[in-house]
Parts: sequence; C-alpha cells; structure tokens
Amino acid sequence: MSEVKKIAVLGGDGIGPEVVGEALKVLKKTEELFGYKFETEQALFGGIAIDEKGTPLPQETLDLCLASDAVLLGAVGGPKWDSNPAALRPETGLLGIRKALGLFSNIRPATVFDCLKDASTLKPEVLEGTDLIVVRELTGGIYFGEKSRRDTENGQEAIDTCVYNEKEVERIVRQAFDIAMTRSKRLASVDKANVLETSRLWREVVIRVAADYPEVELEHVLVDNCAMQLLRRPASFDVIVTENMFGDILSDEAAMLTGSIGMLSSASLGEGSFGLYEPVHGSAPDIAGQGISNPIATILSVALMFRLTFGYHDAAQSIEDAVKAVLDAGHRTGDIAVDKSSAVGTNAMGDLIVAAMKK
Ligand code: NAI
Ligand code: MG
Repeated sequence: MSEVKKIAVLGGDGIGPEVVGEALKVLKKTEELFGYKFETEQALFGGIAIDEKGTPLPQETLDLCLASDAVLLGAVGGPKWDSNPAALRPETGLLGIRKALGLFSNIRPATVFDCLKDASTLKPEVLEGTDLIVVRELTGGIYFGEKSRRDTENGQEAIDTCVYNEKEVERIVRQAFDIAMTRSKRLASVDKANVLETSRLWREVVIRVAADYPEVELEHVLVDNCAMQLLRRPASFDVIVTENMFGDILSDEAAMLTGSIGMLSSASLGEGSFGLYEPVHGSAPDIAGQGISNPIATILSVALMFRLTFGYHDAAQSIEDAVKAVLDAGHRTGDIAVDKSSAVGTNAMGDLIVAAMKK
C-alpha cells in the first residue's frame, strides 16, 4: 500500500476547469492501474475566486495548497476581469501563489511528438528526437533586482540591476542536476560568463555542484549560442538550466519547437518535493465552455507531477505513452488537427488517453 498523496486542485477560469477535469480522470485511472492513492480537494482561484470571495487567492486556498503534497492548476484570467485594478486581477493570484509557496524554479519540457512534427515551423528532420526540459530560475536576477530612474544631461536614464547570490544559484542548479539524473544525464548550463559577473558566479557554482554529480555530462553554453543551437540541433539538448531572464526567453523559444501551446506542461518547484503543476497555456476565453479545448498539456502536467514530486516514474511513463499512442492513432483536438471536421472534443480526448493507459 502506498501512502495517500494530497493534491490541491485549482481549476481557475475559462478552459481551466474543463482541462483539469480530464486530468482528474487520469489520476483515477492511475490509482486503478498502479495502486497509488490520491486525495484531491478543489479550491477557488483566479477570477472565480474574485467573484465569490473578493480576492484571486483566498487564504483558505493558500492554506489548502500548503497542506498538500502538490498543486494542480488549470488557468486563470479572462476579459471579465481585465480592467480590474491589479489586486483584483486573476493573474495577480498566480504571482501571489508562486511567491507564497516559495517556488523558485520553473520547469518546462518541450517534447516533439513525431506525428505532430508538421505543427512546428522547423523542418521535421531538425526536430527529430527533440525532448528537452528548460529549468528556469524564477525568483531572482534582473526581474527582481533594484530598479531606478534618474535625469541626466542625455535625458532620463533607467537602471535594472541583476543580482544573484550563491544560495539562489546552487538550489536551482542542484535541482537541474537531480532532474538530469532521472533522464539521460546530460545538462547544459546557460550563462553569459564572458561578459556578466552574475554569470561568472553562476558558472563557478555549477562547476562546484557538478562534483557531486560525476555521472552527469555537463556542458556550458553561452546564451546567444544556445539561442542558435536550439534551432540548429534541438535534439542534442536534454536538461537546460539557466537564470531568470535567459530562461524566460529560451523556454518560449523551446516551446515553439513543438508547435502547439495546447500540448505544453510545466512545473514550478521550491525546496523539497512540493510542486505546482499547470499547462503553459492560459484560460483561452475564446473557446471556453465549448468542450473543444485540448486537455493534453494538463494531462502531461500530471505526468510531470508524478516524476518530479512523487517519483512515480512508472505511472508518468504510462501517461506519456498513452498520449503518444492516441496521437499516433490520429486523434486530434481542434488546435492540433489539420482536418478540423474530424477533431475530437475535450472529454473524448481525455477518455481516449485514459483508455490507452497501461501498466
Ligand atoms: P491562451 O493561452 O489562453 O490562448 C491563446 C490561444 O491558444 C487562443 O486562441 C486559445 O484558444 C488557444 N489555446 C490555448 N490553450 C488551448 C488548449 N488547451 N486547447 C486549444 N486551444 C488552446 O492565451 P491568451 O489568449 O493570451 O490569454 C487568455 C487569458 O489567459 C488572459 O486572461 C491571460 O492573462 C491568461 N493567461 C493565464 C495563464 C495562466 O493561468 N498560467 C498563462 C497565460 C495567459
Ligand atoms: Mg515569457
């Protein structure tokens, strides 16, 4: 008997609740197949929480997350709340929850499914075998450093400061090495050590931490070169670790290799195994409530939760294999279908994946 894992479920707005509903079916099937036990509890978050509780992140929602082993999140936002002041915007809840839960790293896999290679703007032969993860530092660097403005004889001058300390670098780098150990044991650390002092510190820490992971093949790549290599030889990367701004840009670039936002999962992690898992896409208000959204990004986020928080690699593999099998069999939601008339809906896609899961 395995212990019961508690999962806080925050559906959010728009297509959030519908894609999360399909992910819950996958959890149930995992219990049946593998004997793992999950206790799920839903809570209000985002626009719906603003409407019912007057805040995007109610205290009871945060308390539930803090008392859970992991959080599964749908998406938040929508035109209804777009003109609200910042404190009453759904997206403010997103920043608040990451901060309150100490989630300092953001992990985005970019996997190219062979049968969807035509969805990318790159040539299929370049994409062949691409399956990488970008690990981005999320709470430090130039986005959080001191900012200022001053008047000079050349007009206004603006200053952003990039600050990193060893502790901040070490915790994310260790996480990336740990992830590399669960995959093909290759890690690319991306920096700009030829120019930036923060990057030189970054590289020193990476080299020091690497001594604890002798099995991992480490490569240092300058960020400008990495931007090129991602387009030239994407399949040669496995785990990429980098600081906040570089990771922001490179993870978007890597995401586009796969061609479809409805397919991309993500994890945000802190110290320890706790994590928040969500699709990369937003609440898609344009298609919300129509039952046509693609639930695969959220379902793959559950697989990521199994790998990174629970260590249930067998169940994660089962989900990933099921997604691949369903796509290989030609089933598509509207966003990834060439022939839209044959597209299946959200529910049907969820059911197909659940049916394809095997022990
Ligand atoms: P979006 O990702 O919601 O939608 C962009 C386009 O992709 C739309 O045409 C949408 O229909 C389509 N799309 C997205 N996910 C899909 C799926 N699973 N299946 C099929 N089609 C899908 O981004 P957009 O339109 O810029 O933002 C909409 C709202 O979502 C905004 O309020 C924004 O602030 C919020 N947002 C929330 C995020 C989050 O909760 N983490 C992330 C990004 C945006
Ligand atoms: Mg970005």
